[in-house]
Amino acid sequence: MKAVFCEKFGGPKDLVVKEIEPPDTPKPDEVQINLKYRGIAFADLVRMAGNYQDNRTPPYIVGGDGSGIITCVGKNVTSIKPGDKVTSAGGCVELINVSESKVRKLPDDIDLELAAAFGNTYMTAFYGLHIAQLQPNETLLVHGAAGGVGLAAVDLGKLMGARVIATASSDEKLAIVKQLGADEIINYSNGFREKVKDLTQDLGADVIYDPVGGDIFDESMRCIAPYGRILIVGFTSGRPALAKTNHLLVKDASVIGYTVNSLQQKRPALFDEYAETLVDYLVKGLIKPHISHRYKMDEIVQAFQVIIDRRVIGKVLVT
Ligand SMILES: NC(=O)c1ccc[n+]([C@@H]2O[C@H](COP(=O)([O-])OP(=O)(O)OC[C@H]3O[C@@H](n4cnc5c(N)ncnc54)[C@H](OP(=O)(O)O)[C@@H]3O)[C@@H](O)[C@H]2O)c1
Repeated sequence: MKAVFCEKFGGPKDLVVKEIEPPDTPKPDEVQINLKYRGIAFADLVRMAGNYQDNRTPPYIVGGDGSGIITCVGKNVTSIKPGDKVTSAGGCVELINVSESKVRKLPDDIDLELAAAFGNTYMTAFYGLHIAQLQPNETLLVHGAAGGVGLAAVDLGKLMGARVIATASSDEKLAIVKQLGADEIINYSNGFREKVKDLTQDLGADVIYDPVGGDIFDESMRCIAPYGRILIVGFTSGRPALAKTNHLLVKDASVIGYTVNSLQQKRPALFDEYAETLVDYLVKGLIKPHISHRYKMDEIVQAFQVIIDRRVIGKVLVT
C-alpha cells in the first residue's frame, strides 16, 4: 500500500511516496481504518521543515486528519465496528491501526470528504472564538480568511451571530469568502486599518482572529475596539509579532494565544464536547467546509505547492 514519508527535514520535494506493507491485524485496543480522504495544512510544511513546536522526527508519515471506514477491530474494542465511518489522525497512508480512544465515530449519513476537511480547521476557529467570548452582534475581523482556519472562523463567526469582516490578499479569494458568508471583505494587500475603522464607526473590531502575524498583527493593534480581543492563531507571514503593552493598556484590550493541541492534551473532555458539537453542525448543514483542491498521494508535491503559493481556499485534500 502507498504512504507519503518525510524522511529528512526539508520541503515537499524531499517527500517520498513509498509502497509499504499493510499493517498487521490491530492489537486488542486498536482499530484498523481504510483512510479515504486526508487533509494537509500549512502546519505540515512547518513541521517538515523541522520548525514545528512539537516536531516529529523523520521518518514519519506526512499529514494530519483523515476520514475513512473501519475494516476490522481488536478484541477489546466495543464502541466501533467494521463498516463504521470515522475520523482520526493518520496522514497520507491507505490503512492504519489506531487506538480506539483516538478515533471519532461519525454518523452514517456524514459526507466523508467534508469530514476530512473540517476537523482541525473548525476546531481551531471554534475554540478560539469561545476563548475570545465572541458575542452576537460583535464585530469579528478574520485575517487570511480564505485559508483553512480563516474560512472556518468566517463560517463559525456568522453562526455565532457576529458581524464578520474578512481580509485576504486577492479579490478572487475575497469573492468566495463573501459567497461563504462574510459581511464585509477587505483586500489587505494595501492595509486594512482605515477600512475597518470606516466599517465600525471608528471603534475597531471587537475580536480579531489572526493566523498571519507579523505586519498584520501590528496593524491589527491599531484597529482593535475598546475591550477587544486579538487571537494569536498562527504565523503564516513567518514572523511572530510583539504586542505593544501600552496599546493594550489604553484600549483595555487582550491578546490571547492558544493551540488546539493543548486543548486536546490538557482538557480532553472539552475537546470531545467541541468535536461532537462540530460534527453535529456538519450533519445538520449549519457549517460549510470548503475544499478548493484535491490530489492523489502521488501528487503530494503539487498538493503542498497550492498551500505554498497561497492558492488554497479552505482545504486541500489528498485522496
Ligand atoms: N493555534 C492553533 O491551534 C492552530 C491550529 C491549526 C493551524 N494553526 C496555524 O494557523 C495558520 C494557518 O493555517 P492554515 O492551515 O489555515 O493555512 P492556510 O490554509 O495555508 O491559510 C493561511 C493563510 O495565510 C495567509 N498568508 C499570509 N502570508 C502568508 C505566507 N507568507 N504564506 C502563506 N500564507 C500566508 C494566506 O492568505 P492570503 O494569501 O489571503 O494572505 C493564507 O490563506 C498556520 O500558522 C497554522 O500553523 C494554528
